[in-house]
Amino acid sequence: MNDLTQYFTSLSLSAASLDATHIADILDLQKIVYDDLAQNEKAYIVPKDFGKLTRHFNSGGAGFGLHNGAQMIAQSLIYMPQDSEAKSGVMIMPPSSEKTKSSVIQGLLVHPHFRGKKLAHTLVQTWKDYTISVDKPHVLAEVATENIQSWAVFLDHGLSISCHVYDPEDQIDLYTLHGNLHHPIKSCAPMHLVSMHDLETIKKLLAQGQVGHTWQKGAVPHIGFSPAEAVGYGL
Ligand SMILES: CC(C)(COP(=O)(O)OP(=O)(O)OC[C@H]1O[C@@H](n2cnc3c(N)ncnc32)[C@H](O)[C@@H]1OP(=O)(O)O)[C@@H](O)C(=O)NCCC(=O)NCCS
Repeated sequence: MNDLTQYFTSLSLSAASLDATHIADILDLQKIVYDDLAQNEKAYIVPKDFGKLTRHFNSGGAGFGLHNGAQMIAQSLIYMPQDSEAKSGVMIMPPSSEKTKSSVIQGLLVHPHFRGKKLAHTLVQTWKDYTISVDKPHVLAEVATENIQSWAVFLDHGLSISCHVYDPEDQIDLYTLHGNLHHPIKSCAPMHLVSMHDLETIKKLLAQGQVGHTWQKGAVPHIGFSPAEAVGYGL
C-alpha cells in the first residue's frame, strides 16, 4: 500500500476490524453518507438498521473501518455466506459448490469530506487480504451501473463486471462484480470500449459471455469488455 501514502499525508489514519461494539459509529457514518447522496443516488446503498447490523456480526460477518483520529471516516461490511443456499439480495452468486468460498463486500462508505483520497481502494485491498487469509477466494460486489466511483475501484482491483440485474424494488440497474483471487484475470487491451451510459450495448456484451475488465477515464468514461476466456475469467 506504499503508493497510497501520498493521499494520506494530511490524515492521521488508522485501520480497525469492526464488530458489534462499533454499530453506533457505523450508523452515524451511514446517515452522513445517505443524507449527502442526491435523490437519484440514494439506492446506491442499502442502509442497515441496528438489528441487521447485530445479525451481520453475530452470524460471522466482518467489517473494517478507517479512522482519522477518533472519527470513523470510511467503512466496509463483509458478508460471508455460511451455507450453499445462502443469498445476498438480487446478486448473482457463484454456484452452490463455491458459495461458502465467497465473500461479499457491502456497505462500502466514505465520508463525503474524504472522497477521492483512495480510502475505498484501501478498504478493498484490506478486504482482499482478509478474504484470502480466511480461504474465501471469490470476491463479490454489487454496484449501481451509474456509480462509477465504486465500480472503478473494483475494476482496478481485478474484479470483473460479470452480469447485470435490474432490482425492481429499488428500481435500479446493478452490476455484479466478481473475481477469483486464486485466478487473477489477465491484463490486456479490451476488445470493446463502451460508454458507461450505453447500458443496452453492455447488456448485449454480457449476454454474449463478455466481461467488463477495465475502464478508461474521460469526459464520458468507458468500460472495456472482452470475452471471458480471453482474459482468463471464470469460476
Ligand atoms: C464509492 C466511494 C466509496 C468511493 O470512495 P473514495 O474513497 O472516494 O474512492 P477512491 O478515492 O478510493 O477511488 C475512487 C475512484 O473513482 C474515480 N472517480 C471518482 N469520481 C469519478 C468521476 N466523477 N468520474 C470518473 N471517475 C471518478 C476516481 O478516479 C478513483 O479511481 P482511480 O483511483 O482509478 O483514479 C464513495 O464515493 C462513497 O462513499 N459513495 C457513496 C456510497 C456508495 O456509493 N458506496 C458504494 C456502494 S457499492
